[in-house]
Amino acid sequence: MIILAIESSCDETSVAVLKNGNEVLSHLIFSQIDIHKLYGGVVPEIASRNHVKHVTKLIDEALIEAKISAKDINYIAVTKGPGLIGSLLVGINAATAFAYANNLPIIGTNHLAGHIYAASIDHELKFPLIALLVSGGHTELVYMKDHFDFEIIGTTLDDAVGEAYDKVARTLGLSYPGGPIVDKLAQKGIDEYNLPRVFLDKEKYDFSFSGLKSAVINTVHNLKQKNKEVNVNNMAASFQNSVMDVLIEKTKNAANNYNAKQVIVVGGVAANSELRRRINEEIANKEVIIPKFIYCTDNAAMIAAAAFYQLKKESPSSDYIIKGFSTKQMI
Ligand code: KG4
Ligand code: ZN
Repeated sequence: MIILAIESSCDETSVAVLKNGNEVLSHLIFSQIDIHKLYGGVVPEIASRNHVKHVTKLIDEALIEAKISAKDINYIAVTKGPGLIGSLLVGINAATAFAYANNLPIIGTNHLAGHIYAASIDHELKFPLIALLVSGGHTELVYMKDHFDFEIIGTTLDDAVGEAYDKVARTLGLSYPGGPIVDKLAQKGIDEYNLPRVFLDKEKYDFSFSGLKSAVINTVHNLKQKNKEVNVNNMAASFQNSVMDVLIEKTKNAANNYNAKQVIVVGGVAANSELRRRINEEIANKEVIIPKFIYCTDNAAMIAAAAFYQLKKESPSSDYIIKGFSTKQMI
């Protein structure tokens, strides 16, 4: 089964062609990071305009690279949400037009399901599993008994972990997106600043990162008032250690309490070097799966992989109206 997938929920325009859910025939990503960097974060209107500029070209290139034509495709998959409304609409319209022109069925796929199924591209998922989904917009612990059966057992009550990374980076005068930079600097620093570890209820799986972010802002502010230097490497290491202590402890508890066969770590923050290193060490009694870097941040291969399993449970739409597509999901 050949699926062409389109992802445009935020600031990456991506198109991929996958055979049977895990054979990547082509995978193209146009990242807008360099454009949004100038503004210190994603500007939705600019993101939408850049999706418009690139999506059609990427579809053509994805077909050429996969050495197929439209008639070889079985299904079109597209991210239906959550994400930026204008950005999503560009991908959805491109997918709908392509499906209509080539008489192909279309399926709308949830972006978070996509992040989770990034793990299935190079590994077989074994159930029950616990997924730690950590990105710029989401921080969730998800329990899965089977394919496309998601139970969110924990979520952030305020900032997503990637969002906290980006805001801390900004406080430290670093560029956007802050996650990879903080990660790099943290490797050269020590945990000097003794920031809080916010576990909330230890029996539960919810997270909170806004207090930790405020602790960084206050510490930087107080040091500046006293005319003292902030050691940026040590602040990055202190922040990163606090985040990882909480993420890993909660994931470990969930994996043990739910008798998980696998722990999968997905989303943009799964690219973090310390998370990758520590989770393997500290959850040694479970099989830990972390996708390749390229499948951690937003990409269309993960959408095609998710759609492959979604299609086993749901039939696609043949009337070019994406089922379950609602503006509520986008916001
Ligand atoms: O999954 P993603 O590409 O987009 C969303 O769906 O949000 O995640 C982007 C987030 C950004 O906040 C970025 O700073 C963070 O992932 N990120 C990292 C690292 N690489 C990307 N955070 C920590 N360490 C990293 N190495
Ligand atoms: Zn994402």
